[in-house]
Amino acid sequence: MRIDLTFVLISALSSSVNSDVFTLVSEKMNWTDARSYCRQHHTDLVTLNDRTDMDELLQSLPSGLVSLMWIGLYRTDEYFPWVWVWSDGSKDLFTSWDPSQPNNVDGVQYCVCTSPKGYWSDWWCTDKLPFLCYTKKRDR
Ligand SMILES: *[C@@H]1O[C@H](CO)[C@@H](O)[C@H](O)[C@H]1NC(C)=O
Repeated sequence: MRIDLTFVLISALSSSVNSDVFTLVSEKMNWTDARSYCRQHHTDLVTLNDRTDMDELLQSLPSGLVSLMWIGLYRTDEYFPWVWVWSDGSKDLFTSWDPSQPNNVDGVQYCVCTSPKGYWSDWWCTDKLPFLCYTKKRDR
């Protein structure tokens, strides 16, 4: 069974970023299937542009959902230095890596997930995780 939990980021100052609708899909999928799902039903896997985006997203997460979640960040580079890119083509340089990440365990961690604490880890793309999609608004 698929459970979609949609929530809208609410901010006193409405900005174009905050007008995007974020959707947490709790059904676990690998990164490529998650991206396909987001592109089919929403816009793409989520892009996080800055700390405010990250903080507001975390504050919007229903309590009790303690899990790693796919975001739209990934790389195709095999060799260091890796260039991380957003699935939707955004070029923003904001990152929120956990202090010990990215560490490329087994040499195959090409995708990125976030934790409810807001730190990112590179992760095995084949792993099945819940994920975050966003729906773009016209003014973005
Ligand atoms: C994800 O799973 C699909 C099957 O649902 C498979 O075709 C695809 O290769 C998998 N991708 C990764 C990165 O594991």
